[in-house]
Amino acid sequence: MAMEDLAFIKGFCRLCDDGFKQGWHERNGGNLTYRMTDDEVAEAKPFFEEPREWVKMGVRGENLAGQYFVSTGSGKYMRNVLEDPYANIGIVEINETGDAFHIVWGLANGARPTSEFESHYMNHCVAAARTDGADRVIYHAHTPGIIEMSFVVPLGDRVFTRILWQMMTECVVVFPTGVGVVPWMVPGGPAIAEASSELMQTYDAIVWAHHGLFAAGPDFDTTFGLAHTVEKAAEIYLAARAANGGSDDFLNKISDKGLRDTCRDFGIKINEAFVD
Ligand code: 13P
Ligand code: ZN
Repeated sequence: MAMEDLAFIKGFCRLCDDGFKQGWHERNGGNLTYRMTDDEVAEAKPFFEEPREWVKMGVRGENLAGQYFVSTGSGKYMRNVLEDPYANIGIVEINETGDAFHIVWGLANGARPTSEFESHYMNHCVAAARTDGADRVIYHAHTPGIIEMSFVVPLGDRVFTRILWQMMTECVVVFPTGVGVVPWMVPGGPAIAEASSELMQTYDAIVWAHHGLFAAGPDFDTTFGLAHTVEKAAEIYLAARAANGGSDDFLNKISDKGLRDTCRDFGIKINEAFVD
């Protein structure tokens, strides 16, 4: 038995590989973090190493102080994670004040957690608080359809959400609160962490304009499925628009009544601000 044999590590590595196979992770693009359960910490502890030095974050989140996270490494490639987890991912512990971490396993040869770790951590804090502790996964991917959409659609939550909902019948069921949109920002610091975590109060999926997608969920399947659904809807929009001579004034579309009826029948609460 080794760390790499534990189910949560296998699930983590599988998601990295799934995302790479979708074409979302050129080079070191994208990153993933997972907040471990107490049971997972207990089964992983025998494999922990001498902790490295504490690293101060530019953000603080008290509700997840003392928790353990699996994180992809900064500059590491998603395509290499499955083959060599120890070199490409690691486990970090957050300190008791929620503003620093240290590495307790993996990230070999002096590697660091993702440069977006501050964004991930802040968003974990918000998502965990909003879902009573259920949310554990944050996933950032360089999804081409969403990036393309951010060049041709106004950068607003309502307009993005409505387009995506209308592209496939079940989108509104998968993300009934919609998607948030962060305008273009410099990646990898506290500013994009703050902007994203504001939106995370409301949304499970956040568009980073000209950059990609940032998604939260309770487990790997749900989170990957959310990113997959949002990205597929974006790709359908772009293809339908291209087939329609560049216009999104489509001949046929799902009505607002259709969106409402779907949510009613699925027993889901739609974000009322986004339907007419
Ligand atoms: P990292 O290699 O530091 O995870 O950065 C990749 C990325 O996508 C930044 O937004
Ligand atoms: Zn990125």
